[in-house]
Amino acid sequence: MGIEQQKNFYITTPIYYPSDNLHIGHAYTTVAADSMARYKRMKGYDVHFLTGSDDHGQKIERSAKAAGKTPKEYVDEIVDGFKHLWKELKISNDDFIRTIEGRHVKVVQDIFTRIYDRGDIYKAEYEGWYCTPCETFWTKRQAEEELCPDCQRPVELIKEESYFFKMSNYQDRLLEHIKNNPDFIQPESRRNEMVSFIKNGLEDLCVSRTTFSWGIPVPFDEGHVVYVWVDALTNYISALGYGSEDDEKFKKYWPADMHLVGKDIVRFHTIIWPTLLMAAGIELPKQIFGHGWILLEEGKMSKSKGNVVDPLVLIDKYGVDAVRYFLIREMSIGADGHYSEDSLVERINIDLANDFGNLVSRSTAMINKFAQGKVPKPGGEHTVDRELKSFAVETVASVEEFMDDFELSNALQAVWKLVNLTNKYIEDTAPWGLAKDPEQKDRLGTVLYYMVEALRVCTVLCGPFMPDLPAKVWAQLGMEDMKEAHTWESLQNWGGLPVGAKINRGDPIFPRIDIDEISEKEDGKVETAEKLKLKDEITIEDFMKLDLRVAEIVKAEKIEKTDKLLELEVDLGVEKRTLVAGIAEHYTPQELLGKKIVIVANLKPAKLRGVTSKGMLLAASEGENLGLITLDRDIPLGAGVR
Ligand code: MSP
Repeated sequence: MGIEQQKNFYITTPIYYPSDNLHIGHAYTTVAADSMARYKRMKGYDVHFLTGSDDHGQKIERSAKAAGKTPKEYVDEIVDGFKHLWKELKISNDDFIRTIEGRHVKVVQDIFTRIYDRGDIYKAEYEGWYCTPCETFWTKRQAEEELCPDCQRPVELIKEESYFFKMSNYQDRLLEHIKNNPDFIQPESRRNEMVSFIKNGLEDLCVSRTTFSWGIPVPFDEGHVVYVWVDALTNYISALGYGSEDDEKFKKYWPADMHLVGKDIVRFHTIIWPTLLMAAGIELPKQIFGHGWILLEEGKMSKSKGNVVDPLVLIDKYGVDAVRYFLIREMSIGADGHYSEDSLVERINIDLANDFGNLVSRSTAMINKFAQGKVPKPGGEHTVDRELKSFAVETVASVEEFMDDFELSNALQAVWKLVNLTNKYIEDTAPWGLAKDPEQKDRLGTVLYYMVEALRVCTVLCGPFMPDLPAKVWAQLGMEDMKEAHTWESLQNWGGLPVGAKINRGDPIFPRIDIDEISEKEDGKVETAEKLKLKDEITIEDFMKLDLRVAEIVKAEKIEKTDKLLELEVDLGVEKRTLVAGIAEHYTPQELLGKKIVIVANLKPAKLRGVTSKGMLLAASEGENLGLITLDRDIPLGAGVR
């Protein structure tokens, strides 16, 4: 009996500085790592997903002082905020490491001592430039005009006794490693940048500071604290219990499969981290992946510009799945991307509400209408069905390929091709036409089954990116308990959708966002005419030509052989009238009885399906949604409306 060995997958995000609250840039890194972690779990890997906080450093010490708090008080509060944000974003991290924790401090001190004992750390005088916001040392040549080459803020001249790490000793070994392991630095453009940086020559790295104290003390020289980047990078192994009695996780998950970081800190991860590990005699991680930055139209986000985008506000407004979808879909991994609220709303309205949401609502509506609310048995297959089926199978394979290359946006794009093909399949096969002909029952069965099966495939594929989505779709398809059909494995074969699932239509999964409504709420000014595509302006006299009246629905019946039409009798107080209304897909006759509505009473009568309609009721509609205009007070029947 062969027991298949479970594959492990260890993925990390940077540990973020608790100098301030996090913004959508940080959220992007963490959501990207989370999507990968969820995908690997679905693929059967034993995943360990780590994030955390980089609590120490001069910048934090200064921020705390400015806020009148101790550094510990200051970071504790902000780190609570990180944890809250990750919970709201449905981040599935297995651990959260803080660099002030004992399990971390011990490992940093041990490694520092070990490298010192080996002779790769020595004491000397440091004189040079330091960027406190980036916690980075620069040479005079690098810090041209006394500005940090990374963030363009002023650097400080420092002169202090320090410990140095002989990074230069490891230059050749590092280049050799990068050459022999093409996946070590990804994407390729970042690898090339790093290789030329290293070839320019590595200098020894200053690894301790004496001018502040909010850090880990050098164990054999207490006036010094360990340089914050050496402290920070070590989190990736301290969190696994490296060097402790309980080092099970280290044995299991190290070397890490992927350190995901933003392009700003690729250098620290691909030069300082591997050379430190070499000096400490520890295996190197398999891959460092450097993604691009989220920029605003006006450039970088910054607190001083006051344009920092808070992910919590977006989640509250648009929902977690939509925010996650946007971040991943909009950012082509590796490259910089742009954020604007308009582009977020556009993605929600087009990709989510229109493409995906519509597929769910029309599929469930059709099964309800044409198959008594249960997923029917498929009959024989036509070419169009075979095409949908093979495209779905190909989509699963291409999503897997994209995920393996960490091309998350492309993976989602591939899923959306299937969503759109399924929508097209519905148009092409026109189930509403098949439903009219009893001889086409088998054909209708195939079409409805294939439609929902493709929807099931899309839903499973979306799971790593939008954690709340699958449960919502399963609820509407009546598949909550059919766990086997929720798995990635079930995508290997077409037909995982059980026949007989009982549809349970619900609210739209992704409601459309009305930009005007939102901006009206926010700043009270709406340029409605342009955004709503209003009709030509009319005068009050034009409006007064309409005779709008309050009426009560007293009788309602479906008009035979139609899907949409209802025959209504309405009471105007002094007379009763017959109206024909196209609302049968939205209201049952029963629920209309007694409703007080508004009708256009002076509309020229028209004959519809043999019934003369004397007037028209008013309803609001958008896409699949429709609601009658009713009264919120008791007003006598026949009263005028203006
Ligand atoms: N504490 C260090 C990391 C130590 S890791 C051992 C640090 N922290 S940070 O809070 O400044 O976070 C930097 C990371 O946040 C970036 O590498 C990136 O992952 C993410 N981002 C910050 N701003 C970003 C954008 N505007 N766009 C995308 N990601 C961004 O550096």
